[in-house]
Amino acid sequence: LIEAVGAREILDSRGNPTVEVEVLLDDGIVQRAAVPSGASTGAFEAYELRDGDKSRYSGKGVLKAVAAVVDELGPALEGVDASEQRIIDEILIEVDGTENKSRVGANAILGVSLAVAKAAADSADLPLFRYLGGPNAHILPVPLFNVINGGSHADNGIDCQEFFLAPIGASSFSEALRWGTETYHVLKSELLKAGYATGLGDEGGFAPDLPSNREGLDFLITAIEKAGFTPGTDIALGMDVAATEFYKDGVYRFENKDWSAEELTAYYAELVDAYPIVTIEDPLDEDSWEAWQHLTEQLGSKIQIVGDDLFVTNPTRLRKGIELKAANSLLVKVNQIGTLSETLDAVDLAHRSGFTSMFSHRSGETEDTTIADLVVATNSGQIKSGAPARSERVAKYNQLLRIEEELGDAAEFIGRAAFPRFKG
Ligand code: PGA
Ligand code: ZN
Repeated sequence: LIEAVGAREILDSRGNPTVEVEVLLDDGIVQRAAVPSGASTGAFEAYELRDGDKSRYSGKGVLKAVAAVVDELGPALEGVDASEQRIIDEILIEVDGTENKSRVGANAILGVSLAVAKAAADSADLPLFRYLGGPNAHILPVPLFNVINGGSHADNGIDCQEFFLAPIGASSFSEALRWGTETYHVLKSELLKAGYATGLGDEGGFAPDLPSNREGLDFLITAIEKAGFTPGTDIALGMDVAATEFYKDGVYRFENKDWSAEELTAYYAELVDAYPIVTIEDPLDEDSWEAWQHLTEQLGSKIQIVGDDLFVTNPTRLRKGIELKAANSLLVKVNQIGTLSETLDAVDLAHRSGFTSMFSHRSGETEDTTIADLVVATNSGQIKSGAPARSERVAKYNQLLRIEEELGDAAEFIGRAAFPRFKG
């Protein structure tokens, strides 16, 4: 039973305040969870409550959310069985009372929701992935390493926000991690050789001032080859365009030109033919459902089309996307929706509808590794947690190493089967 719930303001990887929650059970178990925070946030995400008090952290403090945990959410859960996750999440939603969790803040709610799950797992003496996923949780995901950062995550001129290495040909998660990391280091020396800066963006990838997005993909291909791997077979490519960030008044401002959705779609089709790309996230604006439909019709049989800002891990928006065939994959971010139960509902719905799913960190992260356990618990098969560098990114990959070790012979690395391009 839940005895007490506490919270504090801590810092995330960008040096901004965020919420950490601690849950104490009556058997003496204490577990904590910390909440991530995005930069290129979708307009339809659950509400992140910030103090707005300019005298602290430029208004970004989260003391109101912390107080909501201590004064409202915690007391509402006292005496409740910690293993009743769905009931707990319903109570949290009810106490808030708004559609988008804006009264007490999705950051307050999510911290409690995740900390309760971790405490319940610990109390049952099970690792979190096993507690949530049961005996069938055994799929180790393909890690998508964001090794070149652009868009709102870096100060360079690259429009595309993320360029991924996906080591689909590896035979285990640990091997995939090694391949991706070796390629990351070669990429750094290739960028240096070409005279580019190798400072890092928010997600640990390099942030060179490349002249075009194609140049980014070319660098990845070179790095993969020079690291001794075969592009496409060993390591495939992916992108998160985060197109909403450069969409305004019906026009995409991309590579210093104005593009229509059709033009951008044709450009993606060219890229998919020219490069071993297995996944493109947010290729179009977050509310342009029809344009997404057209793109999915044209490219959906070849590659994975991931809705991030489009779906915001929200089962209602996902249901619409499934009906419209507006994408074929769900990006999963726990803080976009705000409770564990709703996150698992979205993933379930995706999988039952023939969609793939990719678990994701946020550009503002902490040392919390919950998503590593969630991706195995749901047998999702894909995770993006940034580059294989910087501890808040690597913490998730390291946790997956531990899970792979714990599973032993039962562990199965999904590899290329994670992506539609290789399913047919
Ligand atoms: P964000 O970026 O965490 O800044 O929203 C991640 C993404 O767009 O996938
Ligand atoms: Zn995204």
